Amino acid sequence: MSRTLISGGLVVTAADEVLADVLIEDEKVVAVTAPGFGATADTVIDATGMYVVPGGVDAHTHMQMPFGGTTAADTFETGTRAAAWGGTTTIVDFAIQQAAASREDGRAGSLREGLDTWHAKADGNCAIDYAFHMIMADVNESSLKEMEALVGEGVTSFKLFMAYPGVFYSDDGRILRALQKGAETGGLVMMHAENGIAIDVLVEQALAKGHTDPRYHGEVRHQLLEAEATHRAIKLAQVAGAPIYIVHLSAAQALAEVTRARDEGFNAFAETCPQYLFLSTDDLARPGFEGAKYVCSTPLRPKEHQAALWRGLRTDDLSVVSTDHCPFCFKGQKDMGLGDFSKIPNGLPGVETRMDLLHQGVVEGHISRRRWIEIASATPARMFGLYPRKGTIAPGSDADIVVYDPTATQVHSASTHHMAVDYSCYEGRETTGKVRTVLSRGRVIVDGGQYRGSAGDGQFLRRDTCQYLR
Ligand code: URP
Ligand code: ZN
Ligand code: ZN
Repeated sequence: MSRTLISGGLVVTAADEVLADVLIEDEKVVAVTAPGFGATADTVIDATGMYVVPGGVDAHTHMQMPFGGTTAADTFETGTRAAAWGGTTTIVDFAIQQAAASREDGRAGSLREGLDTWHAKADGNCAIDYAFHMIMADVNESSLKEMEALVGEGVTSFKLFMAYPGVFYSDDGRILRALQKGAETGGLVMMHAENGIAIDVLVEQALAKGHTDPRYHGEVRHQLLEAEATHRAIKLAQVAGAPIYIVHLSAAQALAEVTRARDEGFNAFAETCPQYLFLSTDDLARPGFEGAKYVCSTPLRPKEHQAALWRGLRTDDLSVVSTDHCPFCFKGQKDMGLGDFSKIPNGLPGVETRMDLLHQGVVEGHISRRRWIEIASATPARMFGLYPRKGTIAPGSDADIVVYDPTATQVHSASTHHMAVDYSCYEGRETTGKVRTVLSRGRVIVDGGQYRGSAGDGQFLRRDTCQYLR
């Protein structure tokens, strides 16, 4: 048995902030004690002046995802290693059911085939623990039946799309059926809420007018079309008697829909992402083709939306901050959309920078330290059935722990980050706070600028159902 003591730090969880020592035996936390309580250990990590926080739980990533005619640049190996560098010790990635249109035999794949493919990609390659959601690209009798089996295997959430007609899109009838099945089985439906049918009309009209630059991506994916879809998704969920989780929410009007539903006592949950808190349509409108670096869906919004999102995080109308990490290189991938913004692969890199950017939210006074940990670790763990194994520091929890230096500064850059992508959305931006040491199930995997883990350290996590509904 190995014993590690993290001594003298400020232990910050969603519930508490306390100067304490953390004692770890093998993979688990066994005690959180008064400082200097006298526990003996083989290894002592001095955390004086540091925060000691639960490792981040990023509940929305797309490692090596085929999308928009190419594949997201981070593999499970590179992406989870980058996550570790940034203080995230668990990801929940999206396995994908293949739609009929993307298969040679013209038949939709099964959920099982999709999940097996994702297991094969991740198995033996991850630096940190990982779990899966399932993207349902074809809601039919047989995929609806499969939902129950997946819930039993720890894949307890299912993403549907109101966007991307012909790719992932589901119509309202299919969405209603999936929500009903979710209510029956305990599976949580996650919704990409944008009116894709209307967006495709606006795309066609914009291109016909010669509006081909990246900034038009933000204009055609209108904020009201996000609000409308969010409203519709919530109403469909109410009719089905099911909870709903809205992913990557960016528009203030969409947040208002979630807030109203929550005020009425309905189980509507939503996440936002750091890019919506720190970037805006000004970035999409950067000169030349630079704006392509900022093309994602839902799109970045005008700066004014940021204050509403921070407020939503404070009031818990937004419960989670995930990254939607889906990186495409500027050269060779984003440039597929030169002369036609609709061909720019949608997605941004971010798995490495989430904890730091949210800590910057603490530095700038938007949220408290405990709320930082709540939205980045504790709530995503609870939302997706991983708590208290993940998301906190308490006896019995996995020893996924970050020793975080709250005063160190860093300048973000593609030249120093570890994500396999040739640009940073935050190039040259200085933030305060930096990961010093990362433990994954009791093993130090990052320390003082050195990566000490290896591919295959991370294990698949079977998840419970959403812990806000029991
Ligand atoms: O632009 C995005 N968000 N790309 C990833 C796919 C998705 O919709 O989450
Ligand atoms: Zn989406
Ligand atoms: Zn996504």
